[in-house]
Amino acid sequence: MKIQLLLGCAACALITHAADSLIVHSGWIDLNKNGKQDVYENAGQTVEARVADLLGQMTLEEKLGQLQQSHREADAVKKFGNQLHQGAISSFLDGSDLIETPVQRNQLQHLAVEESRLGIPLIFGHDSIHGFRTIFPIPLALASAWEPELFERTQTISARETAAVGIDWTFAPMVDLARDPRWGRIAEGFGEDPWLGSLYAAACVRGFQGTNPAAADRVMACMKHYVGYGATEGGRDYNSTKISDFTLRNFYLPQFKAGVDAGVGTFMSAFNCLNGIPASGNHHTLTEILRDEWKFPGYVVSDWESVGELIKHGIAANTNEAARLGLTAGVDMEMVSTSYHDTVKQQVEQGIISQAVVDEAVRRILRVKFRKGLFDRPYVDETLFKTAQLKPDAVTLAREVAAKSCVLLKNENAALPLSKQIQKLALIGPFAEDAGSLLGCWAGRGRAEDSISLATGLRAKLSNGKGLTVRRGCDAYDSTNLFQKEIQQAVKAASVAEAVILALGEPANWSGESSSRAELGLPGRQMELFEAVVATGKPVIVLLINGRPLALPRLQEKAAAILEAWDPGVQGGNGVADIVFGDVEPAGRLTVSFPRSVGQVPTYYNHLNTGRPGLGAYTGQYVDSVKDPLYPFGFGLAYTTFAYGNVELSATSAKADETFAARTKIKNTGTRAGEAVVQLYIRDVAASAGARPVRELKGFQKVKLNPGESRTVEFIISEKELGYFDAQGHWLVEPGKFQVWIAADSATGSPVDFELVK
Ligand code: BGC
Repeated sequence: MKIQLLLGCAACALITHAADSLIVHSGWIDLNKNGKQDVYENAGQTVEARVADLLGQMTLEEKLGQLQQSHREADAVKKFGNQLHQGAISSFLDGSDLIETPVQRNQLQHLAVEESRLGIPLIFGHDSIHGFRTIFPIPLALASAWEPELFERTQTISARETAAVGIDWTFAPMVDLARDPRWGRIAEGFGEDPWLGSLYAAACVRGFQGTNPAAADRVMACMKHYVGYGATEGGRDYNSTKISDFTLRNFYLPQFKAGVDAGVGTFMSAFNCLNGIPASGNHHTLTEILRDEWKFPGYVVSDWESVGELIKHGIAANTNEAARLGLTAGVDMEMVSTSYHDTVKQQVEQGIISQAVVDEAVRRILRVKFRKGLFDRPYVDETLFKTAQLKPDAVTLAREVAAKSCVLLKNENAALPLSKQIQKLALIGPFAEDAGSLLGCWAGRGRAEDSISLATGLRAKLSNGKGLTVRRGCDAYDSTNLFQKEIQQAVKAASVAEAVILALGEPANWSGESSSRAELGLPGRQMELFEAVVATGKPVIVLLINGRPLALPRLQEKAAAILEAWDPGVQGGNGVADIVFGDVEPAGRLTVSFPRSVGQVPTYYNHLNTGRPGLGAYTGQYVDSVKDPLYPFGFGLAYTTFAYGNVELSATSAKADETFAARTKIKNTGTRAGEAVVQLYIRDVAASAGARPVRELKGFQKVKLNPGESRTVEFIISEKELGYFDAQGHWLVEPGKFQVWIAADSATGSPVDFELVK
């Protein structure tokens, strides 16, 4: 018998007949059959004591229930009622529109908390990748702002909106390093640099979880997809990856480790096969590295059916083997597929899987549920969600970050910024009025009707609002129609305009999951539209709306200006207009290289040297193209110009336990105020455990300068910036020569030498 006492309510004590144990809810105290409160029910106890107490009371069936995550649909209460009663489900994730409110969520929670024997609360998960209802720019765009704190602020808002509908846990950050723009999921990550990616990973965890993830406006974060997913062959989603341990340690793992160091609650195992072993059955990465080396205390959820998919990968013969491989490798919770639920009981009883393996998985899941405060506050306020979405501070921030994420790629003859006094402005292209596409992939519960189109944002700035003529020109990707008439209308509008803006790019669903591309040009008839408008002789300003680096050498050749606006989110039109008219100075820089052609892929700045570097024959050059990217990592222009002085070091040699300074003078040589993103790069010239990249980003500072103003920018360098990992994960700081750059991007500047001595 379970006895519940309602605390703080003079009215009553309520007695229910349910099971041997007890359940606590806010305001309630549940007493066990001895008339005492269980340790796990007592919020005053430590998490570890509560976990141990609860684990000690669970049957094997209840334990296995904690390993199951199911998909929540409109009929979930009816469909899963029985299972919830038995404690057979641990978590739900959402896909459908029903998560606009917390009502059904609380009903499901009620079944788990009030009607199961031990009353273990459910944890509800959802993909709030770059916003819930207030959709911010895609992560790749936000990375271009080079402001991790700004990203943290967006994720704090995202946590608030997500938590208000009763979601406790979000499947982000996605920290997969990606070097192949054909892969649609490059949009979800932070680009090609592990150092910058680590700052963004940690910022995201802080933004979601805050200092106390149990707070009502916070959610648990999830590092995904562990690991190597971004190195997918041919850029095809879900494809195999081959990454040496040395490369894994130095490029693919650091962002995940940064999440662990920031206190992330959970990890998600990836879909891909890594060096022949699927990531969701990979004991080396999930247990040896994540648990044993990094001491990660939280749990790992599989990606969607990725435990079941171990069979298709060809390492499990059947569901039994898939479950055994996934669980013993270190995947604690199974998303959607049910191989743990279906087979593990029998396998434990037969001694094939040890009880200790199950206990460890359950312990990890319970730990996070306690940490999230779900035992002490299982329900959410059902009224809050109405006022929590799209609040003014969220909308203001969305506009600020949309502008800060823009990267100016070309600006011939100061084509930008435009004057607000312009009387005739032509805005042409399939993205001129398509507000929905600005939200990008994984747009949470974002709505096209919330979104400010480019036309709306630009029009609002003009002193003569009627001076904007908008023409679509052609469809975003349809190449079957000729669009002759629409192109002619666009040309006509361009011919009579004082300035012409072309809004070109990719639809939102051309990036993200399962949206790989074989080509990196503009889809459909957009290039024809571009050529026709350029042929008018008007200087053409291109606004790019896209979720990946595109290969657009012809635009670079013929456009007067190119502004990479990415998928800029719900305030995209306003944020982009702030840049176009110069109310905000462009200060974004690329965190991923833009190739000239698909054939150059992968092209990334932090590659190794060859034995034949440089230009010319026998240097690894193409016969039909240069080998450098069109726009390198770190690149981006301002409306003003900056001059970088020589790099000076405070010492030309130092020991590993000493620090030294590298500094240079930056001058604003233009006529407008602007912001430089001053970048520190280092190269370890000779490394014993494996060659190091030709350059690696190790620091940056954003510096605002007025016209003519100079400032000395200084970086303090220590062993943290000089070391690297060997294939086993040991941190090595080796004496010898290093090169140091302070530069505007990864392709410019001159290095100075430094010697690390014993
Ligand atoms: C994606 C994950 C996502 C999950 C849940 C999967 O298909 O790969 O990134 O978190 O679905 O929606």
